[in-house]
Amino acid sequence: METIAGKEIDFDSAGIRRRDFIHIAPVSFAAVGVAASAIPLVDSMNPSADILAVSSIEVDLSSIEPGQRVTVSWRNQPVFIVRRRAIDIARTQADDANPGLIDPLSDSARVQKSEWLIMIGVCTHLGCIPLGQKEGDARGKYGGWFCPCHGSLYDLSGRVRRGPAPRNLDIPPYVFLSDTKIRIG
Ligand code: FES
Repeated sequence: METIAGKEIDFDSAGIRRRDFIHIAPVSFAAVGVAASAIPLVDSMNPSADILAVSSIEVDLSSIEPGQRVTVSWRNQPVFIVRRRAIDIARTQADDANPGLIDPLSDSARVQKSEWLIMIGVCTHLGCIPLGQKEGDARGKYGGWFCPCHGSLYDLSGRVRRGPAPRNLDIPPYVFLSDTKIRIG
């Protein structure tokens, strides 16, 4: 238990490894064909108006191992990609019927493939970026994400479990182009 921003937080550090938290760049911006190596990481991204206008990106998932969380940028906002382990999926699905869900939705309704959770990393309260993607981040007792602005907690399905956030983290439009590649947007 640790106190952050005046709130007591349970850390779920089991299984966390340094390489669990990486940022990867999109494979390409489909509409403009920019090479992957030319795309800066989300933390330092300062895209031009042309890039901002791009509506879709492709992301290669092949290097993401079970338990890893990565962040890409889409339309100038972070998209969290998580390759969930079997234990993560089981834990999340076990909460599907939990009466404490603020925005009740089954885990299966939030993913296309249970192994891959893909969602917009912006808190649905006032738009802060929740913690949980990087090593050492507070995740909260549900093992997902913690918004430091006002203390909202999200679980491993991105469902809000403690407010004031009113709804689950949003899911962007995406399709699987293959087992290891998605297009977002
Ligand atoms: Fe996340 Fe307020 S912006 S809890």
